Amino acid sequence: MNPISEKISSIGVVPVIKLNNPERDAADLAAALCKGGVPVAEVTFRAAGAAKAIKLMSEAQPDMLVGAGTVLTTAQVDEAIEAGAKFIVTPGLDIEIVKYCQEKGIEIYAGCTTPTDYHAAYKLGLEVLKFFPAEQSGGLAKIKAMSAPFPMFKVMPTGGISLKNLGEYFSCPVIAACGGSYMVTADLIDNGKWDEITELCEKSVQIVKEARAK
Ligand code: 3PG
Repeated sequence: MNPISEKISSIGVVPVIKLNNPERDAADLAAALCKGGVPVAEVTFRAAGAAKAIKLMSEAQPDMLVGAGTVLTTAQVDEAIEAGAKFIVTPGLDIEIVKYCQEKGIEIYAGCTTPTDYHAAYKLGLEVLKFFPAEQSGGLAKIKAMSAPFPMFKVMPTGGISLKNLGEYFSCPVIAACGGSYMVTADLIDNGKWDEITELCEKSVQIVKEARAK
């Protein structure tokens, strides 16, 4: 794995964030995540101010790995890079975007759940995939089944992951990290519940640590 994937994997969980008010919340959110032992974020382009959020979070916590999620166009890749994103996440596998990211030298995690997706990802030279939407696509059982013909990939499942099932995923060696919005919900962010976010991060990190030690 390249250094970005290594770092994400060592942290173990990736908060998937939709930030509606970056000027107000970006710095506090970045601090809360880092304090909880999760210095990584996938800031999704589902909110209009995503690029601004990436920029502000990166400035507030320079050691944090801030990436862009729900990237749907090469124009958004440019916007994300310009804002300082360290990685790109796409919900599906779009060959044009993957190649564009490779040309630009930025790590890309493309959403894959089927043999056809994995096969295309293999031909594109990808090593780590986003497995999305994880629970809805068959969860850990499907990830294990997919790793039989495609043992070369590590995956980052996202979608339907919470403190309840996080540990289970790490019983499987192909898991690089798990993503989720459960520690950064709209309620937590909009109501400034930074301590709760930190606590959820701490709990997540602990679960990953214990599961990996088994
Ligand atoms: C994503 O884009 O990765 C998902 O929407 C996050 O899924 P979750 O909200 O079920 O954690």
